[in-house]
Amino acid sequence: MPEPDPASNGIGWLRATVSRFANGPVHARRRAIVEELVAGVDPGDLRRPYAGHPVAPLARALGVTEPAIVNVVADVRVAAAAYQTGDTAADPAVDRLVSVFGGRYDEATAAHIQLLVQACDATASLIERTRTRMSGERARTHTRDERARTHTPDERARTHTSDERARTNTRDERARTHNPDERARTHTSDERARTNSRDERARMSTVDEVLRDDPPVLATRRVDPDGNVVAVSLSGMPFGAGPRACPGRELAMALVEGALR
Ligand code: HEM
Repeated sequence: MPEPDPASNGIGWLRATVSRFANGPVHARRRAIVEELVAGVDPGDLRRPYAGHPVAPLARALGVTEPAIVNVVADVRVAAAAYQTGDTAADPAVDRLVSVFGGRYDEATAAHIQLLVQACDATASLIERTRTRMSGERARTHTRDERARTHTPDERARTHTSDERARTNTRDERARTHNPDERARTHTSDERARTNSRDERARMSTVDEVLRDDPPVLATRRVDPDGNVVAVSLSGMPFGAGPRACPGRELAMALVEGALR
């Protein structure tokens, strides 16, 4: 991993103090701090339905309270845009984030900010791409349904007759029931539970499709044995692999689930 120059504040400090751009034992030490922080977050909290940017629930889970959340999300987005380049325009945003997390320019503070910054764009684009794909699927299903409704008159007549039959059956069914209201209520809530878990499964399989076909992170960078910085494809490994693999995978999936509910 190409290492940034040391810096005492701003985005330069963040890049020089996170695990992401460190190597060897320094990477391992910082990564351990990150993993401990991740382990302290309950994915169940992130899975709860929310509107807005996925950084907000994650920041709350890391101890940020209202009303700071809105500004934290805005500053994290700025820091995320400058994370790879080190553009100093992001310095004030990073310095504000340091104050939110206690004001010390140390590895623990950097780890808090790193989690938010790493989560920011990748999670937001996974949510966005999944939503786009789901609305494409809904449009296709709708068109299929439309086509099914505009069948030949014979077809329609047959459908009509079978609808009639269905209605009669239902009426007979209802007449036979002792406690129709009770039965109807149970039926409806069972149906709802089944529909919800079906919807949930459909949504999460669309997420998997996006991760397979259109992942948010396509490549990463490493230093080759000659000291050159090279791009390494992450094809088939949307969360990376090995000692640098994403430690936030489970939290990312929980945030995606919460956003799509
Ligand atoms: C869909 C969302 C996400 C995707 C696709 C993703 C993907 C990745 C990938 C591919 C890497 C490895 C980069 C490399 O090998 O150089 C990585 C690293 C990392 N990710 Fe994620 N990530 C996501 C969300 C998150 C979230 C939500 C968090 C925090 C809760 C997070 C925290 C991290 C951290 C801290 C690293 C650096 C690990 C290290 O330095 O060893 N990521 N991520």
